[in-house]
Amino acid sequence: MSANVYPVSEEIAKGALIDKAKYDAMYKQSVEDPEGFWGEHGKRIDWIKPYTKVKNVSYDPHNLYIKWYEDGTLNVAANCLDRHLATRGDQTAIIFEGDDPSVSEHITYKDLHERVCRFANALKSMGVNKGDRVVIYLPMIPAAAVSMLACARIGAIHSIVFGGFSPEALAGRVEDCGAKVVITSDEGLRGGRGVALKRNADEALSHPGIKTVEKLVVVKHTGKDIPWNDARDVWYQDVCDAASPDCPPTEINAEDPLFVLYTSGSTGKPKGVLHTSGGYLVYASMTHQYVFDYHDGDIYWCTADVGWVTGHSYIVYGPLANGATTLMFEGVPSYPDASRFWQVCEKHKVNIFYTAPTAIRALMREGADWVDKADLSSLRILGSVGEPINPEAWEWYHEHVGKRKCPIVDTWWQTETGGILISPLPGATDLKPGSASVPFFGIEPALLDHEGKELEGATDGNLVIKYSWPGQMRTVYGDHERFIQTYFSAFPGVYTTGDGARRDEDGYYWITGRVDDVINVSGHRMGTAEVESALVAHPKVAEAAVVGVPHDIKGQGIYAYVTLNADEEPTEELRAELVKWVRKEIGPIASPDYLQWSPGLPKTRSGKIMRRILRKIAANEYDQLGDTSTLADPGVVDDLIDNRQNR
Ligand code: PRX
Repeated sequence: MSANVYPVSEEIAKGALIDKAKYDAMYKQSVEDPEGFWGEHGKRIDWIKPYTKVKNVSYDPHNLYIKWYEDGTLNVAANCLDRHLATRGDQTAIIFEGDDPSVSEHITYKDLHERVCRFANALKSMGVNKGDRVVIYLPMIPAAAVSMLACARIGAIHSIVFGGFSPEALAGRVEDCGAKVVITSDEGLRGGRGVALKRNADEALSHPGIKTVEKLVVVKHTGKDIPWNDARDVWYQDVCDAASPDCPPTEINAEDPLFVLYTSGSTGKPKGVLHTSGGYLVYASMTHQYVFDYHDGDIYWCTADVGWVTGHSYIVYGPLANGATTLMFEGVPSYPDASRFWQVCEKHKVNIFYTAPTAIRALMREGADWVDKADLSSLRILGSVGEPINPEAWEWYHEHVGKRKCPIVDTWWQTETGGILISPLPGATDLKPGSASVPFFGIEPALLDHEGKELEGATDGNLVIKYSWPGQMRTVYGDHERFIQTYFSAFPGVYTTGDGARRDEDGYYWITGRVDDVINVSGHRMGTAEVESALVAHPKVAEAAVVGVPHDIKGQGIYAYVTLNADEEPTEELRAELVKWVRKEIGPIASPDYLQWSPGLPKTRSGKIMRRILRKIAANEYDQLGDTSTLADPGVVDDLIDNRQNR
């Protein structure tokens, strides 16, 4: 833990929406009278039919439901577009910055509205109705935001699959949600190289399990020649040109689904996290405004991809609901060189910049000269998300990017939470490098011991959230039982986050990482079980165990222990083949950093793999293995230590 404390800057506090006194008063009201608080703040968005009920939640595992504003109706896209037309129709809604630094585009609210209406009509003409699922597999280009909002406009449920996922991973998600339409592009572009999205989509859709997809909409992006299926494929540009620009927003119930986003858990295949419309939008827009101290006219840039929840809530829905100018960046921080982020900040005069610790660590390694080259005087607020930020990276970010003037909001949240739950507010919270600090309005975190007893004061424990908030996920798509099992069964009566945390004497929270078998690689969440099942799907592999290992840039790397079938030879070629296999099965982000041959795995007598031991060996902490006497064959441990890869 870092000892430094940075008090709220007077300069920032002066112009901030929330200062210390206001935070205290609003937080108090939010937890003492949640109905009153959320009843009042729900009005920040436009309702077609106003709600009369605010909250209706039961965490009883036998009858679990979560409803907010349940009798209200609205349209999410109209909140992000139509309601701004009169006052800011000519203001830029989206600044698109291409992978190629010479490419950028400003899209006004009026223009975005028209694009969304046209594509919404095009989707309707393909037979997409309210409640139908549409999978979006696109690069970070404006058509991604247009597709999301077009779905929202007609009440279709979108499910974005990150463009870095493999055909296999895409197929699994398309099949699970039963999509009617898939949207992709000829290619993506990252760091000057093409990514074969259409080819991947073709391969995914040829999967025998996929029976629901009627159309594949293709955005022409790089112009690359691609195979074409006349019966199924249509060009995005053609269908938009043919469609009417007049598309009245469909009236949607607050509790109708807005999107499904797949995320990794500790067991089984990824689960479809389902978010609904009203509460999600209230929460995403409110957190966007207060956490980033967003003021009208600010240029706001979140560097995430829309394939992750951060892109949903803090590139598209939150900022657009607030009438912001949001920047969408297609490229990578290192292309054409390590000054790209800072060049983009200078070029577009970015005021609020939100990125991930892994990017900061990678850029820090390249040296501060790359930062110093750019004029960063427009920056006012910095943000961090996705994993714990180590104090060294925090200090570097604060000094070199923020010039010691910009507060850093270290925002802790999850795909499941819909929006930020723990974070400083720029004008209200003293900063401690490495701590996500204090809860947002309406959020009551608690730390529990293994028996579920709530711990008081400064302590470590399992982080849970006691009561519901409007942005909370409502279910796992198609598997409500799994929702209950995953989040409400270990500790009944509260939402279990799966993270561990420490609370200090000032009540600040320090997230210590996952307490389950989920790892966090460059801010990307990965189930070790998913990588294991990819490995054992290889015909030469008998068994595999995967653990996270500390990694300087990625935060955590992937360490795989592999047992081959009895007649297979462990060779360097096979090692490379298995790494490639995992990339193909899941995607490049799941590539094992280390792959060790392990003739045996440490197991208890009942056959359970002892991952604690595997984690220690991977991390080179094999002198602290603890008790190994319960192992069926303690001898395997010596072999694993002798042959470890991370030396
Ligand atoms: O372990 C926490 C970590 O990322 C997990 C959630 O991952 P995902 O659903 O992919 O969402 C990422 C973007 C919100 C959490 O359970 N995490 C996220 N933000 C932080 C964090 N850990 C520490 N500090 C953070 N600021």
